[in-house]
Amino acid sequence: MTDRHTLLSSITVEADRDISIASLFEAEPDRLARFVMREGPLRADFSKQALDTQGLNALLDLAAKCDLEEWRAKLFSGERVNTSEDRAVLHMALRGVGGTAENQAEVAAMRDRMATYATAIRADGKFKNIVHIGIGGSDLGPRLVADAFEASAEQSLVLRFAENVDGASVNDAIKGLNPAETLAVVVSKSFGTQETKMNGEAVRDWLGEYGGSNMIAVTANRDGAQDFGIAPDNIFDFWDWVGGRYSVWSAVGLSLQIAYGPDVFSDFLDGARAMDIHFRDQPLQENLPVMLALTGIWNRNGLGYGSQAVIPYSRRLRKFSAFLQQLEMESNGKCATRDGAVATLACPVIWGDEGTNGQHAFFQWLHQGPSEGRYGGAPVDFVAVLKDHEARPAHHTALLANCFAQSEALMLGKSETVVRAELGDRADIDALAPQKAFPGNRPSTTLTLDELSPNALGYLIALYEHKTFVQGVIWNVNSFDQWGVQLGKVLATTILDELHAGQDGDHDPSTQALMQMIK
Ligand code: F6P
Repeated sequence: MTDRHTLLSSITVEADRDISIASLFEAEPDRLARFVMREGPLRADFSKQALDTQGLNALLDLAAKCDLEEWRAKLFSGERVNTSEDRAVLHMALRGVGGTAENQAEVAAMRDRMATYATAIRADGKFKNIVHIGIGGSDLGPRLVADAFEASAEQSLVLRFAENVDGASVNDAIKGLNPAETLAVVVSKSFGTQETKMNGEAVRDWLGEYGGSNMIAVTANRDGAQDFGIAPDNIFDFWDWVGGRYSVWSAVGLSLQIAYGPDVFSDFLDGARAMDIHFRDQPLQENLPVMLALTGIWNRNGLGYGSQAVIPYSRRLRKFSAFLQQLEMESNGKCATRDGAVATLACPVIWGDEGTNGQHAFFQWLHQGPSEGRYGGAPVDFVAVLKDHEARPAHHTALLANCFAQSEALMLGKSETVVRAELGDRADIDALAPQKAFPGNRPSTTLTLDELSPNALGYLIALYEHKTFVQGVIWNVNSFDQWGVQLGKVLATTILDELHAGQDGDHDPSTQALMQMIK
């Protein structure tokens, strides 16, 4: 069997030739048909990638050699693909796809309980506010989704979030709210997370006499929640086969159900379910998550890009890049393979911000900045919504025009010859022309949603979840553990204890000097 490093090196060799993206449209007359895919409300245009049919075939060959289809089957069947923690990975079961009959029964029972609870809270009218307490996967998904639901659904209760251990986070969350009218939802898979427990305690103190009745928990550690003081009837469970960063579809989304209603949440699950079925059933060459993953492999391992920008041209998706940072970097940001070997250039840095704001900040670097990647800058995923949800058609058309212009400008650039012709005869032309030229040939993908409905959002998030899985298979890393966050957590606890006890502890001189400042 060929080792993984050799397989990935074959992509580096394959990509080691100059490809002009713009010329590919002439060289490959069926390029749009081949490189544009649609599934439900989601259209993905990969045609502006620096990838031709020959390169794509090499990637598909790589995927086959990495046993992608076998891994996909293992994932959906509930095999323990999270090997280092010996767990199955079944967030798709939360959408009704995959897993065992037992998994499906557990999910159905929990969905019923959540819907009943959310409906009762909404009907009762006692609560006007929800404070959702959690961090990482217990925060980013609900926060992204709440913003996005705003496009088409109505928030019936005020929804605030407290995540950071910085006191400002909890202070901002409770500011101006009446404890009698506030439901606190403490969300922690482990119920051992420092930030969440401290924020939970602070909110419980603030709730005062309502601390018992107005606080519920969502967790996979029922005992931990009970030890924290939450009544058993106020605990909503999920399971160890739901990873934190894949958990928004579980009871972790309870705050969303209460604020927006169970029907909206069901539409969201249905969208993800459709993407699950597409990913599970479609051949690799017609499979959207596979294509998104493979273009990423091409950019990372073929063209040597160390980062990937994701720019949603939608205010309501402004948390998308932060969400993907956890999803992709916590999943695949690993330097050891499943077998303990050194991994070959896995996950790039994921970054971004909403368009058009980013155009006035980092797009200078995207268009003209250097990078380690073959063609400069960084590959970009543009995400746009075709429907105007704001009753501002002129704004919306301008937003989309900007989005489409950026991908065209990145691809076409502007040659020095054209710049020189425009500048005409002037003394400083040799200095000026290169500064005003755009190298172009910078790759991007444009994803469009017909509308930002809960259903379409489900498609979009599930697309990236499956992309992350596919890339993990190809890099041969376990996408479902996160050992890399442990060391810092342990040291933070040690330092906190030492600060409380007024001790120096055993630290390097720099850390010791930092600690001295607050003793
Ligand atoms: O950052 C590490 C992490 O374990 C994430 O994987 C997780 O989403 C987050 O902390 C919060 O964990 P919990 O839901 O257990 O509080």
